[in-house]
Amino acid sequence: MSVGIIDFGGQYTHLIARRCRGLGYRSVVVPFFSNIDDEIEKENIRALIISGGPRSVDEEEMFARVAIKVVEKAKRGIPVLGICFGHQLIAYVMGGRVEKRVKSEFGETKVNVMTNDTLFDGVPSVFTAWMSHNDTVTSLPEDLVVLAISENNAIAAFRHRELPIYGVQFHPEVAHTEHGLNILSNFLSKVAGLTPTWNPTSAIDEIINEIRAKYPTGNALVAVSGGVDSITTAVVMLKALGPDRVHVLFIDTGLMREGEADFVRNALAEIGFKNIHIVDASQRFIRALKGVSDPEEKRRVIAEKFKEVFEEAIENLEKNYGKFIVFGQGTIYPDRIESGKAGAGSTKIKSHHNVVMESLRGVAMVEPLAEFYKDEVRVIATHLGVPSRIVNRHPFPGPGLAVRILGEIDEDKLRIIKKATQIVEEILVEEGLYDKLWQAFPVLLPVKSVGVKGDSRAYGYIISLRAVESVDAMTASFAKLPWELLSKIASRIVSEIPEVVRVVYDVTNKPPATIEYE
Ligand code: XMP
Repeated sequence: MSVGIIDFGGQYTHLIARRCRGLGYRSVVVPFFSNIDDEIEKENIRALIISGGPRSVDEEEMFARVAIKVVEKAKRGIPVLGICFGHQLIAYVMGGRVEKRVKSEFGETKVNVMTNDTLFDGVPSVFTAWMSHNDTVTSLPEDLVVLAISENNAIAAFRHRELPIYGVQFHPEVAHTEHGLNILSNFLSKVAGLTPTWNPTSAIDEIINEIRAKYPTGNALVAVSGGVDSITTAVVMLKALGPDRVHVLFIDTGLMREGEADFVRNALAEIGFKNIHIVDASQRFIRALKGVSDPEEKRRVIAEKFKEVFEEAIENLEKNYGKFIVFGQGTIYPDRIESGKAGAGSTKIKSHHNVVMESLRGVAMVEPLAEFYKDEVRVIATHLGVPSRIVNRHPFPGPGLAVRILGEIDEDKLRIIKKATQIVEEILVEEGLYDKLWQAFPVLLPVKSVGVKGDSRAYGYIISLRAVESVDAMTASFAKLPWELLSKIASRIVSEIPEVVRVVYDVTNKPPATIEYE
């Protein structure tokens, strides 16, 4: 049984889903334009949450149609909670009034509970909640009762007199809302009557059993990149099918971190894989990238070369081991969900995946992690015995260091960026900061600057250091690293890499900047 979160493009939709999961309820994000009936059936949805969203309730006719449908579901026993935009939308379709910019509220706001209700069990009568809205519900129809009001006199929560329909103007999923988890939990357990039994480890154990039952014979292939998603996918296949039937393929593009192929080989062997295939294609990638400086062109060249090398590798493997019957792919939940917000989503990551899919036409594909968020993948990886040096590895882009050398790539620049990457990672690990950051890496800028090295004038490269904190890479904030640490990184880079004379620190958040530079 699941909780369905109807996504209207709100920035916190995935956070709501993660909070429900953290409380022990399987949750799925359902874009508002999906067929809600089908989703309810397919996912066995027993409670619905309408998420926040950047728009106004009357901006598109379809919004009201979706909400009317959801209200119908409440009449059939599927409880509904509207959050922020969801709160406004429910009030609107039930005959209430929503007005624009009459009582905008942003940030921490005091909320007064006016009427005792299950939703607020265990919550004090005054608490601080996180608000972020321009539009406001200014009047409710007969059937909806005010449960709480904000310090600015806005309707902060309501419920239906008889039906299990609730709305909260604030964001219970955000950490700044006191007792927010309690409110969500009251809705799911007391209003919806759900039992919190879900957790990622039992979910993956079930998936492993399903894969085992579905593929009783034949060989599986998993392409690994060295990251936690693909290695955990391979381990799921290993647990399901055993070491004789699972083949792992690693293509060394030469655009990876220093010693990456050995790192991956050792980790895979340590985990218990027997069929480890490493293809060194570094010279082919570097040759193909000669003269290419445009970022999109680089990605295109790399994707094309990857496809070519990958297809050759499969052909060679199949000559020796016979046809593969299944291909395991490391897609994770955020890669899969098309957000309600136009233009959002990890399109770059998807396009990279599609390349792989195409070259395995006709082979069954399993995506055992397609249900999970990154932090859940890490929990699963640990549960399945993946070494912690892999579990806690930072994400690394498919096109690798090619997007961290701005402009044209050559062997010298690759050597410089590999060395700088090694220095940054070493220092962060030594200082115990690596695991606290989402990503941290140097970028080689295509400009030179003056410096002094020894007693003479030097003219060399500038390295930009990027370190960010994030939960899902959709947004990120630059890490406020200690000055001493930044200074240590800068000193080591300029003293150990003769071609670099200057290190700068990137203090932009995402948005507006992206995490990677190209
Ligand atoms: P941006 O730069 O868009 O990156 O903020 C978001 C996250 O995605 C990673 N990334 C990629 N991963 N292939 C990948 O597999 C790619 O082409 C790619 N580009 C960016 C990036 O490292 C960050 O974690």
